[in-house]
Amino acid sequence: MSAAKAQGQAKGQAKGLAKGQAKGYNGRKPGATALVIFGITGDLAHRKLVPALYQLAVDGQLPEDANIIGVGRREWTDDKLRNEMRVAIEEFARLKPIDEAALAHLLGRMHYVYGDFGEKPGYARLKTRLEELGAYNRLYYLATPPSVYETIISNLGESGLSSNESGWTRIIVEKPYGHDLASAQELEAMIHTVFDEEQIYRIDHYLGKETVQNILFFRFANGIFEPLWNRRYVNCVQITVAETIGVDGRAAYFDSAGVIRDIVQNHALQLLTLTAMESPVAFNADAVRDEKVKVLRALRPLTGDEALHSTLRAQYAAGKQDGKKVDAYLDHEGVAKNSQTETFLAMRVAIDNWRWAGVPFFIRSGKHLAERVTEIAIQYRQVPLALFGAQNMAGDAPNRLVLNIQPDEGITLTFGAKVPGPANKLKSVKMDFSYAEAFGTSTPEAYERLLQDCIHGDATLFTRSDEVLEAWKFIDGVLQAWKQQPSRKLPQYAPGSWGPDENDKFIAEHGHRWREMVQLQG
Ligand code: BG6
Repeated sequence: MSAAKAQGQAKGQAKGLAKGQAKGYNGRKPGATALVIFGITGDLAHRKLVPALYQLAVDGQLPEDANIIGVGRREWTDDKLRNEMRVAIEEFARLKPIDEAALAHLLGRMHYVYGDFGEKPGYARLKTRLEELGAYNRLYYLATPPSVYETIISNLGESGLSSNESGWTRIIVEKPYGHDLASAQELEAMIHTVFDEEQIYRIDHYLGKETVQNILFFRFANGIFEPLWNRRYVNCVQITVAETIGVDGRAAYFDSAGVIRDIVQNHALQLLTLTAMESPVAFNADAVRDEKVKVLRALRPLTGDEALHSTLRAQYAAGKQDGKKVDAYLDHEGVAKNSQTETFLAMRVAIDNWRWAGVPFFIRSGKHLAERVTEIAIQYRQVPLALFGAQNMAGDAPNRLVLNIQPDEGITLTFGAKVPGPANKLKSVKMDFSYAEAFGTSTPEAYERLLQDCIHGDATLFTRSDEVLEAWKFIDGVLQAWKQQPSRKLPQYAPGSWGPDENDKFIAEHGHRWREMVQLQG
């Protein structure tokens, strides 16, 4: 890049920063801020956090005087950190080509503090560095394995690094937030001895996705859908979180988690609560989260036989996907030979409230499925009278509203239309909204939005204490029921399929059918 261009970019960036600062955010003017990332040497920091910070720098959305401090157990220097992060940004930045001026500015503000998370000297060094940088606003990010969360939190407290005295101090905690209800309660009790609830930001990156936020905008900024959003018109809701990837490289973690902890307890329940909640009284953190918590409280507990009847677990077998060989889940290194951990889960959930009584919410999620797709499909009821002949009216009603969360972000409404010609024949047709067509292809990454919100003290898109505990309470019933079951080999499914053969029977027993995903391509 020419020097003139670099200078131009730097100027543009400075303008962006000044603009962002003058405007503030929610009426607050950000001050000298340090983002302290524990686990900076890990995968999450490389792939997501630092590229997101870079993009915020490019957009002029980072406070001008922000510093980034990486804390890690490897003996790195500032230079080593900067070199590593340059490579990470060059590889994982959302927008290319790289804005060299913004990158140089960001790297120049990166610092490394070496420290063993369990030992005090690292925290003392961190404190000194924060003071040297004059960073009185502090955002800690726990991007480490969850096994060290409590160690880091208590050390921050004991080292005098958790108070809000000089500016603001906040902490972002990554998922998994607990392993079950008891461990989540324990973590909650522990974290509240060090931080106040207003300082704690429990992250679920699904909430940072534009399409997930749009669920609320779609529902509550438009007058025409809400009247149809209830048991009177809706037959069932199907939430799909399907992935084509397996668990390579993280099999040991996954074997202790399964789809229920990895996806359902957090991402899928978030999609469910946003779909099912009542309108909040205002669009702010407490009002929105109050309504989400009410949905979680209304979930019919799944325990004992009811839990077994309402869930279907399976594992991927050996096979091929996209021409590549896939090892069976049970053959991965790190997976117990007789593992009962599911890589596929289907689940029927009931919400016992006035809006949703009698409307089942089905969730299905799995690894190595046929397509990567996350969507919420709202299936409407049939008309009361088969005016155009039983043949046309058989099966599901043609009316379905699909919120495509990813990758083809958009919303599709399906309805029946008369096929031209003398026969009274009905065909399912679509009205489509596509994000790419309406807004262009580059939507911000979830972490960009979430980091920005946390810097500005907006917790709307983060999980509140009662929310995370209610979610675990519900999931715990299922986990307990599974634990009581005698050990057996779980049903197996072919990689690249839509799950085990038993899946169709499972939903049929609940009186419904899975939506045919091949229609997505049409
Ligand atoms: C993570 C899970 O939280 O979400 C992963 O741990 C999963 O197993 C990922 O692959 C899916 O996220 P996304 O944004 O790709 O849908």
